[in-house]
Amino acid sequence: MPVPATPAVPVVVGPIEVKVRRIHRRDLNRTWEFLKLVFRGVNKQTVEYQRPRSKARFLEVYEEDGIEQLLFEVGHPDGDVVVGYAECAYEISGSDNWMNERYFNNREMRPLFVEELAVHPGFQGQGVGRFVLEQIEHLARLRGCTHLVLEVAENNENALRFYRGRHFYKLDAAIFMAKKIDVAPDLLPPRQLSKRPKPVPVEGVDGAASGTAKRAPRKKPATP
Ligand SMILES: CC(C)(COP(=O)(O)OP(=O)(O)OC[C@H]1O[C@@H](n2cnc3c(N)ncnc32)[C@H](O)[C@@H]1OP(=O)(O)O)[C@@H](O)C(=O)NCCC(=O)NCCS
Repeated sequence: MPVPATPAVPVVVGPIEVKVRRIHRRDLNRTWEFLKLVFRGVNKQTVEYQRPRSKARFLEVYEEDGIEQLLFEVGHPDGDVVVGYAECAYEISGSDNWMNERYFNNREMRPLFVEELAVHPGFQGQGVGRFVLEQIEHLARLRGCTHLVLEVAENNENALRFYRGRHFYKLDAAIFMAKKIDVAPDLLPPRQLSKRPKPVPVEGVDGAASGTAKRAPRKKPATP
């Protein structure tokens, strides 16, 4: 099936077959570019940045153990096109993660954390996301995980619809709340004085008005 050509949508002719494989180091740069493209729109809607936060963090993840990074590609004569990416972790990872591990332990849950799930905008709504999710679920089952756990912004409506349609339910509610404050400048407005100012001597002018007596120039001491 031909896909319309725009800078963001690569032309793929014929039936579209999506393959999955684990990521290699050489894929990192183009995968980062792919993620920027996918999340550009999403990040305009949400308070929190949808991951990944930075390229540096993305590159770090590749070096970490216990993380699956999967690429979903469509064959193309100029080189395979990344149409999907998934990242999941068997443990709570990253120094900036504030997930509470005990929550899961107390409920005898062994989660697979889905850190990232992204489909190329030009390929959304065609079943790629379904394939990505089935692949993640397959890995979870093989590793004895009991749940897939992920974080999604409530106003990321496409993603929410996608997850809800696939039996995801709400675990906890981190809601971003805001209250409007009546804005007031921190500095007070100009104020009118009730009396006229007294005349003040002007600094640096000769004579008494300057407040300093004019000194006679120093004479050079006579040499013997
Ligand atoms: C959410 C996302 C992964 C879904 O992938 P997808 O390939 O579009 O999903 P599929 O084609 O397999 O399934 C489409 C389903 O998702 C929903 N959907 C999500 N995005 C859609 C889109 N742009 N166009 C059409 N349907 C979309 C539809 O409700 C549809 O539901 P249905 O199968 O019950 O009819 C994809 O939209 C995406 O990458 N979004 C941007 C990144 C993102 O928000 N990721 C999740 C962050 S937590």
